[in-house]
Amino acid sequence: MIENIKRMQKVKNIREIDIKDKRILIRVDFNVPLDSELNINDDTRIREAIPTINYCIDNGAKSIILVSHLGRPKQRCEEFSLKTILKRLERLLLKDIVFVDNLDNAQIILNTLVDGSIILLENIRFYEGEEKNDDNLSQKLANLCDIFINDAFGTSHRKHSSTYGIAKYAKQKVAGLLLKKEIDSFAIALTNPLRPLLLIVGGSKVSSKLTLLNAILDIVDKIIIGGAMSNTFLKAVGYDTKASFVEDDLLEEAKHILRSAKEKNVKIYLPVDVVSTDNVKDSKEIKITPAQDIPNGFMVVDIGPATVKLFNEVIRECETIIWNGPLGVYENQKFSRGTFSISHAIANTYAYSVIGGGDTADAVDKAGDKDNMSFTSTGGGAGLELLEGIVLPAFEVLDKKE
Ligand code: 3PG
Repeated sequence: MIENIKRMQKVKNIREIDIKDKRILIRVDFNVPLDSELNINDDTRIREAIPTINYCIDNGAKSIILVSHLGRPKQRCEEFSLKTILKRLERLLLKDIVFVDNLDNAQIILNTLVDGSIILLENIRFYEGEEKNDDNLSQKLANLCDIFINDAFGTSHRKHSSTYGIAKYAKQKVAGLLLKKEIDSFAIALTNPLRPLLLIVGGSKVSSKLTLLNAILDIVDKIIIGGAMSNTFLKAVGYDTKASFVEDDLLEEAKHILRSAKEKNVKIYLPVDVVSTDNVKDSKEIKITPAQDIPNGFMVVDIGPATVKLFNEVIRECETIIWNGPLGVYENQKFSRGTFSISHAIANTYAYSVIGGGDTADAVDKAGDKDNMSFTSTGGGAGLELLEGIVLPAFEVLDKKE
């Protein structure tokens, strides 16, 4: 894993090339959460793209084309149109942006604009070829620019035309400032970390974190496991988890992870007490019990107060902390206490902390701790694949430093 991270750090970045008078295409990740009325719930990903765009403006780029996806559309539709984010982007950049809804018109429109103009292209996933990494689409995109910049860390695990295929045809292809910041921040935590190094892992499924757990055992000193995935571990060590969600087919795998951790001298911490309820959506009763005493018919929804105390002590001892996955059903205020307490505990340490994207970043934000974490990743799936030790495809195809 460490070698792969170092390999990804070798990509050239925008500061190392001359962009003056060049046509630039930046792959950004504007895949932001929207509500049912298409209001932006969280604009972090748009904000995080601004430094690279500003860098291009400040350094005299001839034109800037922004390319992104939004959601997973089956066809062209308003719900997934990038028009939705245009105003926010203009406000953040303090600049007018030309929206282009047909890729074939992009060059013609660019020719009519003054130097330094910015174009936002309609959702690239409206084109069938994007997710198939279609050669034609890749070439079309590359033809629009002299330099391809990838700044879409959140999509860097996808082998799509705008993240991967385009690099085959682009004359120069380098990382943007966000892509660089992401890989450098993960590298601080993983390649030569201050120890002890702690991984806190949560979320619902062991299956989605299996590769991560196996890969990270060689690197970390301690692992805290919470969230619904800890039920599978509790059952594996012999507890009756009652109506809790458990992946029974992974009990042997959970036992194997616990055994390997022991062999590798990695300490694993599981919840010692839990919050459980009769019904997650419409709970009539909520109980706090030791992990081995979950009431009949109840399911675990959060870690209990003794566990918060125990995990707090572990967190306080560590110098580097990576957190991926909430420790309970934090979206429901009644079951958010455990996750929020752990967020506060990390925020209160002087440890170097890396927060995995998606739900974990959202939980940290809701807990009010966002500004006190060392680094919050904009990637969900991409961050997870990086922690699994994979060389992310988008990095693979960029130009490397000599
Ligand atoms: C994300 O939100 O994780 C990225 O934007 C990638 O989106 P995808 O999972 O739809 O490819």
